[in-house]
Amino acid sequence: MKYFIVTYGCQMNVHESEKIAGILEKLGYTLADKREEADIIVFNTCAIREGAEERVFGNVGNLKKLKKTKKDLIIVLCGCMTQKEATAQKMLRTFPFVDIVIGTFNLPKLADYIAAVKKGRQLEIWQEGEIDEVLPYKRTSGDNAWVNIMHGCNNFCTYCIVPYVRGREKSREEQNILNEIKGILAEKKYKKITLLGQNVNSYGKDLKKPVSFAKLLKDICALDGDFTLSFMTSHPKDLTDEVIDVIASEKKIEKYIHLPAQSGNNRILALMNRKYTREKYLSIIEKIRAKIPNCRITSDFIVGFPSETEDEFKDTLSLIKQVQFDSIFAFMYSPREGTVASKMENQIPQSVKNERVNKLLNEEKRIQKETGKR
Ligand code: 5AD
Ligand code: SF4
Repeated sequence: MKYFIVTYGCQMNVHESEKIAGILEKLGYTLADKREEADIIVFNTCAIREGAEERVFGNVGNLKKLKKTKKDLIIVLCGCMTQKEATAQKMLRTFPFVDIVIGTFNLPKLADYIAAVKKGRQLEIWQEGEIDEVLPYKRTSGDNAWVNIMHGCNNFCTYCIVPYVRGREKSREEQNILNEIKGILAEKKYKKITLLGQNVNSYGKDLKKPVSFAKLLKDICALDGDFTLSFMTSHPKDLTDEVIDVIASEKKIEKYIHLPAQSGNNRILALMNRKYTREKYLSIIEKIRAKIPNCRITSDFIVGFPSETEDEFKDTLSLIKQVQFDSIFAFMYSPREGTVASKMENQIPQSVKNERVNKLLNEEKRIQKETGKR
């Protein structure tokens, strides 16, 4: 019995696919080289932008032929797309050959859904779930081990679907994280640990006995072993001086921060509900540069947010010029159903978004040439 997993989206999904692989291997499945050889195919989906969803629809549609020739093939759809009830229902209607459709919180019960498939198609989407501390991970990222420290997000940036499909912030108990990392280090296969969370800097605030992210970092660094520690993603509003100091002083922590700015314009930042200004963002960058010389800094930007004018977009260009990021990710705003921004007036035409994203990437290339940064 063989399995094949198709993963879309962010590192969180990559890591969750490692969990899915762990569950499947525990059931006796082994990894197939290609999907045609698999007895179970899992699509771990992403909902962050429309393009990601379209790709999933196209690729799941392509499985129809395979299912015709292989009646016992089990097809599973899970992840952020299927956590949305309406999308899950639509996928079930569009793809009568799909067997299991589950949401982001249902993963711990994957083995039960597979066992129940003989009785019929499975559709179940929990609105919430506990953090699963049973860890049958099949790690797949070379000498890097991903470690999830929290789930969900409380920020409700107005463009973002994540809080709707991943729920509110839930931190793992610090001891569970430390134990997982001790286990990883004991295997002596991994040189790097990367902590994952939608907003790692607010780690621990929701715990019964709150723990700060800075303390978690220090406690991990105190573990025996020769490893590098990294983390993502940081929200500028929560990146504290204490965390910057820990990055500066701990030898094991990689001198790298991914700090999504999203826009360089204050009106757009307020409309995005980012809770910082351009000036505040720049002051954090200054602090990082002062305390951590040679720190690599990368960022995400969204162009064509509803009502963004050409001048406001130019503020984003000037911010990237001013900061000289080591690299940036630029996205065209994609309206997500159910979010505040999708209902805002003055949505920007696709042609303008295209233009702006190209201008941003060209500016970035120009700056990198000038500064010699990669
Ligand atoms: N449209 C475009 N980009 C988005 N992102 C999040 N939501 C959207 C959206 N609706 C981007 C943000 C975030 C990154 C992971 O994806 O820049 O930092
Ligand atoms: Fe989305 Fe904002 Fe949360 Fe990041 S911080 S996951 S952009 S809502």
